[in-house]
Amino acid sequence: MSVIVTATASVNIAVIKYWGKRDEELILPLNDSISATLDTNVMCARTSVCARPDIEENEMYLNGIKTSFDNKRLQTCLNKIKAIATLQKVVDKEFLSWNVRICSENNFPTAAGLASSAAGYACLVTALAKLYKIESDISQLARLGSGSACRSVFGGFVRWHAGGKCDGSDSTASQIVQSTHWPEMRVLVLVVADKKKHTSSSIGMKRSVESSELLKYRVEHCVPRRVDEMINAIKGKDFQRFAELTMKDSNQFHAVCLDSYPPFHYLTNVSYKIIDVIHKYNEICKETRVAYTFDAGPNACLFLLEKDVPEVLSLIKYIFPSPNTDYVRGLDVPKAEEENTFETFPIQPMEENKLQYLIYTKVGDGPEIHYDGPHLLNELGQPLNV
Ligand code: DP6
Repeated sequence: MSVIVTATASVNIAVIKYWGKRDEELILPLNDSISATLDTNVMCARTSVCARPDIEENEMYLNGIKTSFDNKRLQTCLNKIKAIATLQKVVDKEFLSWNVRICSENNFPTAAGLASSAAGYACLVTALAKLYKIESDISQLARLGSGSACRSVFGGFVRWHAGGKCDGSDSTASQIVQSTHWPEMRVLVLVVADKKKHTSSSIGMKRSVESSELLKYRVEHCVPRRVDEMINAIKGKDFQRFAELTMKDSNQFHAVCLDSYPPFHYLTNVSYKIIDVIHKYNEICKETRVAYTFDAGPNACLFLLEKDVPEVLSLIKYIFPSPNTDYVRGLDVPKAEEENTFETFPIQPMEENKLQYLIYTKVGDGPEIHYDGPHLLNELGQPLNV
């Protein structure tokens, strides 16, 4: 019988964006960033790991398919964890010499362009750290897999401190507030129908670092102030401030992409329609009730308070009609007090199927170890669901 360790971890959505590295190898960012970790019950990665003498070479299974272990970031994470375990002398040498089998699944489509690598690496290092019984900063280990993953090792609202040291030892995340701090906060993920392959964030940010003057200005002058203001807005539950900063920071990040040379872009006409609709809706409401933010893809994440969900959801369904019966997924949607009609809304609806589906979720907790499973490996360490 081998020890199987299973963990879950969730995606996080940045409200102050990480964009640009000062060290590509160690994945050290140019600026601090802030995110919200989403509810694991709605969107999560689940990873099971084991180490056994009969595994001939390290193996990785992703969503039921055997994938190459020849991935530098994956190997860096495993080697670093084993090196720490060797130093801390917490497991015997023989155990450390065995190969590992890793089996990971996302409960949301990887291809949807949602930040699956953040959940995946946060989950992986949590499971491996447990397997090798190491006491270490999990956030720094997750960062070696994917920068934004270092924020997914905490729940609630999280800050990634860029740090200043060359070895990256001070580039780590910390929790700003727990998920229970702002219980009314909700998130709607709008998955845009789009099959185009986008510039990967690693390649995009490298180009921005090399060529964008706006990125330099942003890092020096905008982000430090925004980070302080965002922390105050979160701690004080000031939605207006929070929402405005979130939208401005998303817009500036996408402006940096256009300011890079050659330029690249992630937003589509549907993304711009979402931006216009949200601003118009806030204007009509005479207060900011919804904020949008976009990462390295066309999908929008909307932040809003629970009381406003029924109306905003009706508006989204009006502007982006869909015949799909499972158009809205995730948490149960609160009932509307009255029927909403948007016939007088000044922006016309688009044709059907511009959005694939919506995920209704909230801010959630950090990674969890599941001692009682369900595991993705059986007691002989063989992958299930493959
Ligand atoms: C736009 O963490 O995917 O989502 O460190 O190269 O793996 P690497 O990049 P990644 O970048 C995420 C960028 C972003 C903004 C953010 O999450 O802060």
